[in-house]
Amino acid sequence: MEPIKIALTKGRTEQQVVPLLEASGINCQGLKNKGRKLIFNDDPRYDFILVKGPDVLTYLNSGTVQIGIVGSDVLDEQENSQYAMLNLSVGKCRFVLASTADFNPQQQRRKIIATKYPNITKRYFEGIGEDVEIIKIEGSVELAPLIGLADAIVDIVETGNTLRENNLRVYAKLQPVNTKLVVNRLALRQYQPQIKTLISNLQTADRQAVKSKLIRE
Ligand code: PRP
Repeated sequence: MEPIKIALTKGRTEQQVVPLLEASGINCQGLKNKGRKLIFNDDPRYDFILVKGPDVLTYLNSGTVQIGIVGSDVLDEQENSQYAMLNLSVGKCRFVLASTADFNPQQQRRKIIATKYPNITKRYFEGIGEDVEIIKIEGSVELAPLIGLADAIVDIVETGNTLRENNLRVYAKLQPVNTKLVVNRLALRQYQPQIKTLISNLQTADRQAVKSKLIRE
């Protein structure tokens, strides 16, 4: 049987998920000492590739990988038609509307909102019946209200350290975020037993990690 290809979001997700993969019985030797390598096949059952979050869906939608491990922020921002089959307890954080202390959410003027997530931002403001201008930023979004590019930001908060250290406040809490295992629809038919086993082992490892308080719920 061909190894199952898994696209893993590199960075924070990868760091949090590799211990779970390992606890579920997968050989992660290469992933743990990766250097600049991007593809890993230490475990004959799986080929792992490391990619950026939005690219996980590109690979998954094209069918070149069967499984993606990615944040729900990415899934919520993009059109996703694949199956999200497992919620992991890692990567839990939340979208917020944040700005400086002098921001007035009731201001009459049309607000400018900076974000890495224009679709999520658009949906939020449409939901509260407010018309805003959205500016797409690629990173360090917290700078935008400090430098005067935007009135406020929609971004992810995990520990709250970035907001605190930049004197920004939360004005509204939006949807929560977590890490999900997503399966390509066709692959689910082709590889059903292997995918089921992987999900079941990973779920057990995730529950165990929560129980032993390695992951806060
Ligand atoms: C994310 C997010 C915030 C930060 C929040 O950025 O956009 O900036 O993490 O985390 P905290 O509440 O624990 O401080 P990331 O580190 O992914 O990098 P970026 O600024 O390049 O988007």
